[in-house]
Parts: sequence; C-alpha cells; structure tokens
Amino acid sequence: MKNLGLIAAAVALAGCAGVAVAQNAEGEERAGPPPMPQPVTMAQRPNATGGEALYIEYCAMCHAANGMGTGLLARRGREPALLEGRSDLAAGFVVIAARNGIGNMPAIPRGEVSDEDLQAIADYLAAGPHGDAQ
Ligand code: HEC
Repeated sequence: MKNLGLIAAAVALAGCAGVAVAQNAEGEERAGPPPMPQPVTMAQRPNATGGEALYIEYCAMCHAANGMGTGLLARRGREPALLEGRSDLAAGFVVIAARNGIGNMPAIPRGEVSDEDLQAIADYLAAGPHGDAQ
C-alpha cells in the first residue's frame, strides 16, 4: 500500500513539471516544450510586393501573430491586435509612431528604414484591413 502512495506522488510530480510530449515530423515522440511558432517571413508570403513586402521585412517580427507588438497591443485592448487587420490606421500616425517610437516600441531610425520605405509601409497599413494578415 505504501508503494501505491509513492507512485501517485511521482505521477503528480511529473504532471507539475509540465513535461509536454510532442511529435516531430517523422511522428516520433519527444519530450519538451512545443516548437516555437514560425516567424512570418517572405518565405511564407512570397507574393508580397511594395509596402507589404517592406512591412514583412521590418515590422512583422514584432507585429505578426505571436509578436511582442501584437501581444502588447492585444493587452492594451487594440482590436484587432494585428496592424495589418486594422481599418483605423492613418499613414501619418504610422510614420510618427515608427520614427519616434511609441510606448514600448523603439524608434526606427532612417538608417534602418528609409523615409520612402516607411511611407510605403504606412500607405499599405492605412489601406487596410488586409485579409492575409497573420
Ligand atoms: C521591436 C519590436 C517592434 C518592431 C520592429 C516594430 N514595432 Fe510597432 N510596436 C511594437 C510594440 C511593442 C508596440 C506597442 C507599444 C505600446 O503600446 O506600448 C507597437 C506599436 C505600434 C503602433 C501603434 C499602434 C497603436 O494602435 O497604438 C504602430 C502604428 C506601429 N507599432 C507600427 C510599426 C511599424 C510600421 C513597424 C515597422 C516599420 C513597427 N511598428 C515595427 C513593437 C515593434
């Protein structure tokens, strides 16, 4: 009877440790956390051009699903949290937010994104919502 108690305790401990069992592509089971979500890159949206392509290059790492910008905007109650899904973004606001930084978003200097490229991104976002937001 004593042994049963020990086994129950061990099972409970394993549960607390939160050991997830996932399967890899070959279908083999492996222990560990689930895989990281794939970052949104041009590889996933190969048809993007112009402002959309620039947005994916410079903004999507924080503003795609699972990005820190998306998470923070969701917590602030912005709906939808994905910038590409919004219909209320004015191009001028996007430019000012990106150049000066806003809240926890760092300022994006001209050396990183030129005025011309930022304007193209802002025009793309202002023309939203875009259905292929992810
Ligand atoms: C390093 C991560 C990061 C990058 C890169 C980034 N952002 Fe952000 N962005 C954020 C975060 C975080 C917030 C939320 C700021 C807050 O509310 O504290 C935000 C907020 C914004 C907002 C304000 C939205 C609102 O409704 O308040 C705009 C507009 C914006 N970002 C545009 C851009 C554009 C355009 C780019 C690319 C040129 C970009 N961001 C790149 C992290 C980032």
